[in-house]
Amino acid sequence: MSERRKILVTSALPYANGSIHLGHMFETILTDIWVRFQKQRGHDCLYMCADDAHGSGIMLSAEKKGVSPEEHIASIKEEHQRDFAGFYIGFNNYHSTHSEENRFYSELIYNQLKEKGHIARRSIKQAYDPEKQMFLADRYVKGTCPKCKSPDQYGDNCEVCSATYSAMELINPKSVVSGATPIEKESEHLFFKLADFTEFLREWTTAGHIQDSVANKLAEWLKEELREWDITRDAPYFGFEIPGEKDKYFYVWLDAPIGYMASFKQYCEREGVDFDSYWKADSDAELYHFIGKDIIYFHALFWPAMLSASGFRTPTKVCAHGFVTVNGEKMSKSRGTFINAATYLEHLNPEYLRYYYASKISDTIDDIDLNLEDFVAKVNSDLVGKVVNIASRTAKFISKSGGVLAENIHDEALWNKFICAGETIANFYENRELGKAMREIMALADAANEYIAAQAPWAMVKEPGREQEVKEVCSLGVNLFRVLMTYLKPVLPETAKASEAFLNCELNWSTAPEFLGSHAINAFKPLMSRIDMKKVEAVVEASKESTESKPEPQGWLAQEPIAAEIEYGDFAKVDLRVVKIAYAEHVEGADKLLRLTLDLGGETRNVFAGIKNAYQPEELIGKHTVMVANLKPRKMKFGMSEGMVLAAGPGGKELFILEPNEGAEPGMRVM
Ligand code: 2FM
Ligand code: ZN
Repeated sequence: MSERRKILVTSALPYANGSIHLGHMFETILTDIWVRFQKQRGHDCLYMCADDAHGSGIMLSAEKKGVSPEEHIASIKEEHQRDFAGFYIGFNNYHSTHSEENRFYSELIYNQLKEKGHIARRSIKQAYDPEKQMFLADRYVKGTCPKCKSPDQYGDNCEVCSATYSAMELINPKSVVSGATPIEKESEHLFFKLADFTEFLREWTTAGHIQDSVANKLAEWLKEELREWDITRDAPYFGFEIPGEKDKYFYVWLDAPIGYMASFKQYCEREGVDFDSYWKADSDAELYHFIGKDIIYFHALFWPAMLSASGFRTPTKVCAHGFVTVNGEKMSKSRGTFINAATYLEHLNPEYLRYYYASKISDTIDDIDLNLEDFVAKVNSDLVGKVVNIASRTAKFISKSGGVLAENIHDEALWNKFICAGETIANFYENRELGKAMREIMALADAANEYIAAQAPWAMVKEPGREQEVKEVCSLGVNLFRVLMTYLKPVLPETAKASEAFLNCELNWSTAPEFLGSHAINAFKPLMSRIDMKKVEAVVEASKESTESKPEPQGWLAQEPIAAEIEYGDFAKVDLRVVKIAYAEHVEGADKLLRLTLDLGGETRNVFAGIKNAYQPEELIGKHTVMVANLKPRKMKFGMSEGMVLAAGPGGKELFILEPNEGAEPGMRVM
């Protein structure tokens, strides 16, 4: 075993304006398992986290709720801590970025950057809400894309055509906050001159501090000149005022990672630990940040640059991971797969998810799929069917024979196999290849079950004179279970605790497990039950309810469910135009059809429409309506139909053609 390491670990700080969901849980479960593993191996490993409590989003949410930002973040923090505890996340400290410790280190780091000439100052123009009297971040401005004319696009890029632009370039821009039309306003901002650190970052990002695939991506960015980073936000803002400036605040992303330090500082004050020995430039402690792949830029460029410029140590490793999909798709509120941690916990054991995620984790940024059927099958088969089964098949024979394990090892080779696998499994844990560790453990569980099945103590016990052999076989079974639970303890902390009570010993892994001979154990109690798919279905149902604020559809929407989702591209193919009904007449021999002559503003079309029972031809003449103008002409019994008019209603007499406002002229596109 290597010497005792000092390791400080963090996972990304969740924003204090939303609930914890199973996407967040992936990261905290991964981090928690890694931390528990290090602790179990005898290292001095500390896990810090906090709520990320600043920013205009949090300020606006609080305002909407009618509470102060401080009250808002306090209640969210409580909820976050409750949810994390529900999944057995064992933080050593959980703080907030809105704290005096964080203000202290944010000011310290900023002052260092400024003193050393890494801060630039210049005026910039931004969108400004004249009603709300605040500058608007791009996501707070919406309007029509200047390129493809798609409506309802955010102020930085178009989700339809991917064009990038500034908020004020949108056609008809509107403030999302007040609905007002934003104006352009100038204000002085401070910038962190990231380019000063180009050489340092080129070296740092290729020195093993991040995964190779991430380093390659960063190398692309580092080829170009690094842009200055705007670290300022104008008042009103919820955050820390920049020292020496008026009405200027640190951008939330400046003080967020400093929150790692702040949380640790609070821990140090409480526990009497030396902060500097972890954070000084030549610290011998290790620093690990677990993050999602979307925030690599902040953690692998800005953060090391800020730390090194201000005389602190830089991270040992930034471990990035991918996103969680559910059943192969992005988590979705309408499908009920956007699952909050609290909703999951109402129905299911947290250790099921801890194990399932562990079985999927590798040290890459590939996305992870939580397939709900596979989740049920895997947990039931591996944990209940394989691991717990070993104890439940053997423990009863030990109890019957007096509750004490046999002295000798019935199958030395099998025992050695279990012990030898320990280092391989530990290496997988160390390198965050948890999926590989789980597969190795399950292969051992298979071997143990095969051994027990081959020995069949339940048959042996019926043969007189073989009592000692039964005891030896079952003692080995119990010991093998103990080794497996030792290896699984970081993943299943509660089952490990219950197993420790049953085995009457601790599941220590600072050295290789030893065979428990002549050792009294306690009565076996069921350790884990199978997952019932119905409970998973209940989680999905509850997620639909808890996240959908729309009322249940009434009337037609209830009778005619919305058709399957289509891509925007599918919709964009349909060319809808305003038309004037130039002429309408009955069609001889047709029960339902009227023949319409439609004026598209220069072009006319002949269309047969099934609206005879709802309209007299003369009622229609002169009306404006909407047609599908690019529908392939269809040959009908009575002639060629060159398009289709849009109408709504149950049918028969109750059918209503769409009538756009008169401002919409024939030929205009309907969007
Ligand atoms: O992306 C996020 O959810 C941020 N709140 C993460 C912050 S991590 C750290 F830098 F504080
Ligand atoms: Zn566009």
